Amino acid sequence: MTAIELARAVARTIPRGPCFAWPVLFVREFIRVRSLMALAELLQALDALAADAGRSFDGCQTSAELEEARIQFLGAKSGRLKAVQQLMGAVPATERPTAGKRLNEVKQLVQDAFQAAQTRVASDTGGVTRDPQFDPTLPGAPHRLGRLHPLSQTIDELKDIMGRLGFTAVEGPEIEDERHNFEALNIPREHPARDPLENFYLATAASQAGQPLLLRSQTSTVQIRVMEHTPPPVRVISLGRVYRPDTADATHYPMFHQMEGLLVDRHVTMADLKSVLRLFATSYLGTEVHIRFRPSFFPFTEPSVEVDMKWEDRWIEFGGAGMVDPFVLQSVGYDPEEVTGFAFGLGVERLCMRRHGVTDIREFYKNDIRFLEQF
Ligand code: PHE
Repeated sequence: MTAIELARAVARTIPRGPCFAWPVLFVREFIRVRSLMALAELLQALDALAADAGRSFDGCQTSAELEEARIQFLGAKSGRLKAVQQLMGAVPATERPTAGKRLNEVKQLVQDAFQAAQTRVASDTGGVTRDPQFDPTLPGAPHRLGRLHPLSQTIDELKDIMGRLGFTAVEGPEIEDERHNFEALNIPREHPARDPLENFYLATAASQAGQPLLLRSQTSTVQIRVMEHTPPPVRVISLGRVYRPDTADATHYPMFHQMEGLLVDRHVTMADLKSVLRLFATSYLGTEVHIRFRPSFFPFTEPSVEVDMKWEDRWIEFGGAGMVDPFVLQSVGYDPEEVTGFAFGLGVERLCMRRHGVTDIREFYKNDIRFLEQF
């Protein structure tokens, strides 16, 4: 009831006596009725609160539900008990003792209901009955541990072996510019390796604004990046993904991994190259491996060779290698009269396939857990 409605109701009850007494009577009566109403309102709110809180706490099954109910009713900031307490202000002083007594009773009721629910929820096992057969001393079910992808395992192992031979592992970007992927490697513009159909050129803004970018087609890019920043001697390997628009078959995939090796120092010869490759292959495959060089051509090595390895009586081609071309040494500011070097690029998948007898490169990228679990 609003104050105006109240005033109207009071006015109706006052006898129409002498005019001067009427306002006094009205005011007195108004105040009396209003305080009675404030008290009634408080008592009503307290009853409702006691009933609602009891019902809510009794219905709680989990400690989360109970906490929610606690905040709703007993919350220090905006709990309902707090809100009802504030109605006390409107109750006239004469009625306060009655109101306060009831308030304390309800407060106690609500708190008791909360505590009872708390005890009940804490002792509740959530409907799970204890299995009399359960033996806590038995070993638990083993967790299934994940593992690294076979290629990641191979890469780690290759880094390890080459590390023992004194090669530091370095990384280079997979998105490259033409200088690092081609020009500094002595691959001129008209070379077929630069054909857009042989590469993944990017259609980015930078690429179109005259600075063509591509997914690197070989890890030899990292040779340039290292030599640009490091004076000789250098002895590094770089392992990572390379991209070529090949049709996928048992031995090709548009993305694969290479291990690039580069050693530049005084008096480096092809004999060093062969020894390093032989030591590496023997360590990786576990038994004596023979290395065979076949004459080949790469624009950035001179002479250039294809590297074959003989293991378990089979020759397999593993990659390319050669002595770093003097043009390349010059293009990074090295003096080819002072230093010489060798470089090699091996296929990581091929190494891993050979060692584990994998016959199809596509197995590595299918994410078939039955295949991956075997490594
Ligand atoms: N980059 C060459 C390729 O991808 C391999 C290679 C590396 C050859 C280093 C010679 C020296 O085929």
